[in-house]
Formats: sequence, C-alpha cells, structure tokens
Amino acid sequence: MDNDIAFFKGDSFPIEMHKVRIVQKLTLIPVEERLKAARAAGFNTFLLKNSDVFLDMLTDSGVNAMSDRQLAAMMTADDSYAGSMSFDRLKSAATNIFNKQYVLPVHQGRAAENILAEAFVKAGNIIPMNYHFTTTKAHIGLRGGKVLELYNKSAIQLQSEEMFKGNIDIARLENVLKAEAGNIPFVRIEAGTNLIGGQPWSLCNLREAGKVCRAAKIPLVLDASLLADNLYFIKTRELAEKDRTIADIIKDISKEADIIYFSARKLGCARGGLILTDDPRVNEIFMGLVPLYEGFLTYGGMSVREIEAIAVGLEETLDFDMIRHGPEFINFMVGELVKRGVPVVTPAGGLGCHLDAKKFIPHVPPEEFIAGSLGAAVFIAGGIRGMERGTLSEERNPDGSEHICDVEMLRLALPRRVFTMSQIKYTVDRLEWLYANRDIVGGLKWVYEPKMLRFFNGRLDSVSDWPEKLAQKFRKDFGESL
Ligand code: F0G
Repeated sequence: MDNDIAFFKGDSFPIEMHKVRIVQKLTLIPVEERLKAARAAGFNTFLLKNSDVFLDMLTDSGVNAMSDRQLAAMMTADDSYAGSMSFDRLKSAATNIFNKQYVLPVHQGRAAENILAEAFVKAGNIIPMNYHFTTTKAHIGLRGGKVLELYNKSAIQLQSEEMFKGNIDIARLENVLKAEAGNIPFVRIEAGTNLIGGQPWSLCNLREAGKVCRAAKIPLVLDASLLADNLYFIKTRELAEKDRTIADIIKDISKEADIIYFSARKLGCARGGLILTDDPRVNEIFMGLVPLYEGFLTYGGMSVREIEAIAVGLEETLDFDMIRHGPEFINFMVGELVKRGVPVVTPAGGLGCHLDAKKFIPHVPPEEFIAGSLGAAVFIAGGIRGMERGTLSEERNPDGSEHICDVEMLRLALPRRVFTMSQIKYTVDRLEWLYANRDIVGGLKWVYEPKMLRFFNGRLDSVSDWPEKLAQKFRKDFGESL
C-alpha cells in the first residue's frame, strides 16, 4: 500500500504529492487553557472554538485543502439565478464521471437525504443498508421509516483482517427484499462506510448487491460522499481492479446505482452536494423538491464559486495521487499507533484514524460515553479535536433509555491534503502519552441533552475531577512545554 517512491535507508513512509502554497497559522494553547476550553465547551468537541484547537481532526467535511486549479475556477464563476454556466460546467463534469444524465444540485449531503426521504419514505417502510449514517437515519426516521443494517460481522470487529468491512451481507439482503416486498422504497449503500471507521466495500460486493436489487426491482441508492477513499481501496485491495483506471472503476460503480448522491464537502473537496440518476421519473420527482428546499435547479443552495470548485474537484478525484494521500497518511498513523500498542481500528480505513475507545479506556462504563470521554481527553492532552462516534451520536431508545452503541470510536479525521507528516507524528506522540495515562480518564454525564442530533449541541460534565488530574499529570510530565 506504500507509495511508488523507494527509500535508500530506513522505514518507508508516504510522501505528499502536492506542495503547500497557502497556509493558516496555528496556535497551541497551554494545557491549563485546553482544560478550560474543554469545560467551556461542555466536553463536546463540536462546541470548541477553533481558535483553541491546534489540530482540527473533527471532520473532513468542507475543510479539505483546495487545489490551485479549484481556486482559479472559482474566479470565473457565473453568478446568475437561473441557467448559470457554472452549473453547466458542474453538470458536464458529473455526467462525464458518473455517466448519469440527470444532475441536481443541493446545498450539502443531508439535503439530498432530505429530498430522497421526502420523495420515497413512508411510515413503516424499511430501508436496508450496509450501515447507517447519522443524518440519513434522522431523515428516514422523521418520515416514520426504519433503517435495517445488513453488515457482516467483521464490520463491527474493530480489529480485523477483513479488507472490505463495508460490504453488505448479500444473502440477508436477498431475504429481506423478499420478506418485506412492497415495504422497501430503496436500498442504500454507503461508500467508505463512515461510522465503522471509513471502511470500504469491494466492487464485487456492490455488483452482487446491484444484481439482487434489480431482480427485486428495488432501486439501489449510493451515498458516494466518501467514494474517493473507497476507490483507493478498490484499486489497492481488490486484485481484479488493480490495473484499471479510477475513471473506469467509477463508471462500473455508477452502473449498479439507480440514484447517486453525495456531500461535495467531502467528494470534490468544496462545499455542496449533488443527486444523479438516469431515471426520468425519479428526476421529475426530485425536480419538484429541489426548488422547494434548496433553490433553483441551477444552484440548489450552493454559491456558484463552490459549484465551479466542485466541478474541478470531481475531475481531480480521478487522479490517483490525489485520492491516495488520505488513506496512505491514515495508514501511516494507524501503523505507528499499532507499533506503540495504542488500540485503533484495523485495517486502516479512509476519512481518518479511529481510536478504539472501549479498549483505550475500558474502565469507563458505556453510560458515561466512552468515546466522548476519550475525545475530551485527547483535546486536553494535545489540543487535537476529534469526533465521538459512539453512544453520544445515537438517539435514545423509544422507552427513553440510552441506546448503547456496539462500536465506540474516537475519529481523528485527516481532511485531504491538510496535515503534514510532522503533525501526524505529534499526534501519535500525544496519543501514546495519553494511553500511558489512560487510568486517569473518567466518564461524562449530560447537563443539556437536545432531542434531535444531540451530539452537535449537547453539553456534558465530567463525572469527577479527572480532567483536572489529567492536566496536572501533563504538566508534571512535560514541564513548562506545551
Ligand atoms: N453521508 C455520509 C456518508 C457522510 O459522511 C455525511 C457527512 C453525509 C452523508 C451528510 O453530508 O454533512 O454534507 O450534509 N459527514 C460529515 C462527517 C458530517 O463529519 O463525517 P453533509
């Protein structure tokens, strides 16, 4: 999986195939200030001020580095409400890449999910998928639909040899489509499966899923938000695909899907979203909803500058050097942590490095939000902002009890082309220190819990003074240093 560059001596490591030409200054505040900032944010990394954050690994969404060609395209955007030439350019780029004739704009990924759910999901419907995503599930749930996850066992085994943990279980899919005939508006497959650690599916698995859906006459919807990483893994892990171009692999993926949507905050490295299909009836339904929720059909809530940037960003996704950067840096980070005994999700996926929170701090009970607690501790330890992926990100059960998540992870996202090798090494160092001091870390409890998507705005408190103890230990070990 290493890059094509060989080394004379020493270990191999990935190299950036781009150079940095615009920079943003960073500040690392002292550990006492980090502690204060964590408390002020209710120990929720979403509520931290970015000025208090050293390395922002919250997400890749909307914060990938943009290329010189993207920035140049933004200067030639055509600002018109209707019939913008910028949208024509985006449509043409998207059609060339995905080979679908109808292309509709939305302001981001979840807007596409809103439209999809509004168009197709009725109360009592079941929507099978390889794994849910938070916003997808919320939009389906809002219409009374239910998500049915058909993942293989390896998907939730955080340490595994399985190279395609994102695969859908084909036998179960086939059975469900029969048993629930008439009650399934579509099947959804998510590329680079986010909530299980950015894990891919194989093209072979997608083809089988496509076949089963076609036989049952049920549309297959592809969430392509994390397609870039999935493409990298298909090319590097699926033998039959290794000599094919990214452009050809995308076309084959696209053939299996009746509807494709994505967040262009991820795919295309800008800010926006698209929905694509070849079905004129489906397109017509969506055409009624896009102006209602998003904006006119040639901008859909996006600025024309972003539209230009997405067009170029999509074309750049065909460049293997571009899409390999994220997964190869993540693989390096995961490898360094494994060497040091720090528990992480393996094999390395896309999107980011995922810490296995249950193994990291096994003494914290699930009701005290294991991954959320680890997120607070990582920020105090290094000014590094991660994202909780566990019980905090779930909604409560209908009876009001906590829905304890199978998987508790802290995601340290690597937005594409943003962080340097030395920043990765710093992160590994701080995580090694934190792991050596893991016994100090304790749990969290709710102070304010919103009903919908509570992880965004909820506030928590520590169950004891463990954050203070952690900061004191840091000061003792690192002296006057940051
Ligand atoms: N689908 C997937 C697989 C996603 O990862 C996301 C967003 C969405 C849909 C929604 O897209 O944010 O543009 O509305 N993921 C972000 C993340 C929030 O941080 O992983 P959006």
